[in-house]
Amino acid sequence: MDTFWTWDASLETGISVIDRHHRKIVDYINELHQAHARGESQLVDRLFLELADFAALHFSFEEDLLDEAGYPIADAHRKVHQAFTKRVRHLYRMHVAGKDIIPQLLSDFRVWLTNHIRLDDQDYRPFVQRYIKRKQGNWFQRLYRCLFSS
Ligand SMILES: [Fe+2]
Repeated sequence: MDTFWTWDASLETGISVIDRHHRKIVDYINELHQAHARGESQLVDRLFLELADFAALHFSFEEDLLDEAGYPIADAHRKVHQAFTKRVRHLYRMHVAGKDIIPQLLSDFRVWLTNHIRLDDQDYRPFVQRYIKRKQGNWFQRLYRCLFSS
């Protein structure tokens, strides 16, 4: 069975937790593509909901991370997520109404997420990387103090 979307290095943000989430979305898209091609409608329903749930979870995780990292345009980033979530909800309603919008959903996800990762997510990368380093530094200092001071 052919793969709809192949992950490549241009999609890496270098932030491992975010990359893992993005890869999981790509996996969902490929599974959905294959289930749709095989005509397995129950599996398509289940994967659609799981994908929408996972994307919502990823967005809210990322938004919290951006707030914690003090990213100055976290609100604008949140709005971009909200607009896409609205689009997915609209497609879900059409799907439930019996329209075959799965090919549209797959292509929207691929186009939107590719652009979003390459532009919007790349933009927050230095802020989040600095934040993660700070946190790791603090954690190490605490551990060091705990072990070596009396
Ligand atoms: Fe994002």
